[in-house]
Amino acid sequence: MYIRPMDVSLEGKVALVTGASRGIGQAIAETMAASGAKVMLTSRKLDQLEAVKAEMEGDVDVIASHVGDADSGEKTVAATIERFGSLDILVNNAGTNPYYGPVLEVDQGRWDKTFEVNLRGPMFWSAAAHRAAFAEKPGVIINMASVGGLRSGPHLGVYNLTKAALIHLTKQLAGEIGPTRVLGIAPGLVVTDFAQALVDNFGDKLAKELPVKRLGEPQDIANLATFLASDLASWITGETYVIDGGAGVKDAAG
Ligand SMILES: NC(=O)c1ccc[n+]([C@@H]2O[C@H](COP(=O)([O-])OP(=O)(O)OC[C@H]3O[C@@H](n4cnc5c(N)ncnc54)[C@H](OP(=O)(O)O)[C@@H]3O)[C@@H](O)[C@H]2O)c1
Repeated sequence: MYIRPMDVSLEGKVALVTGASRGIGQAIAETMAASGAKVMLTSRKLDQLEAVKAEMEGDVDVIASHVGDADSGEKTVAATIERFGSLDILVNNAGTNPYYGPVLEVDQGRWDKTFEVNLRGPMFWSAAAHRAAFAEKPGVIINMASVGGLRSGPHLGVYNLTKAALIHLTKQLAGEIGPTRVLGIAPGLVVTDFAQALVDNFGDKLAKELPVKRLGEPQDIANLATFLASDLASWITGETYVIDGGAGVKDAAG
């Protein structure tokens, strides 16, 4: 049978996307819904989620949750299955960065907060999705890492540690819970609220230096996430994909 290349469809699938009220998570939720998935959007602020839902087409719903809270993961997974009948795709996208500075100078509160949202959240939400759905019917987990998880650098060391651990968790879980596929995405600088300070300070310079001559947009990341979640990517698991406009090539070229 001839299959039209890259006809990325999520028809018949149910996706749960964390951090979906803005930025990359919103773009992923919108693109997955446009590709045929039923989508549950979650983040902490219900009013922002409702505003995003009002602009979306397709079978979508919203629920407020805190990703650092394992109970919230259980409840949100259960609510998604209750609302849509199943769960096929979990996107652990929500992330935070409350601290800029040398690793050894971080206080315990901001260390814990960064790990709570960026690592503990994806781990316990994945466990909840596995127990409630994927153990019986294999699904897909997508973890939003960062290029910062692949290299050391100034200012973002604590955040980068959480993303490095998330990349390792991706590989570890892929081995433990296959045939459920577990994948990571490691974006470079993407224009969102989260990255506003970096975009304001370095955006123009970086865009000129990148081989593709522009910064990333949430849609760039959403396109990759939707492909990885689809059956077209059914032989891919355990890997984390860098998507950075060629920033790594620039580094390699010196
Ligand atoms: N932008 C970049 O340049 C870049 C680069 C590499 C990786 N990333 C990663 O990409 C992901 C998305 O980033 P973004 O740039 O789209 O960020 P963003 O625009 O700040 O959006 C973050 C989303 O996460 C939600 N969120 C934050 N803390 C949460 C919590 N404790 N519980 C539940 N939801 C929470 C926010 O909603 P509420 O405030 O309503 O909770 C929001 O929907 C993050 O994991 C980030 O580390 C971003």
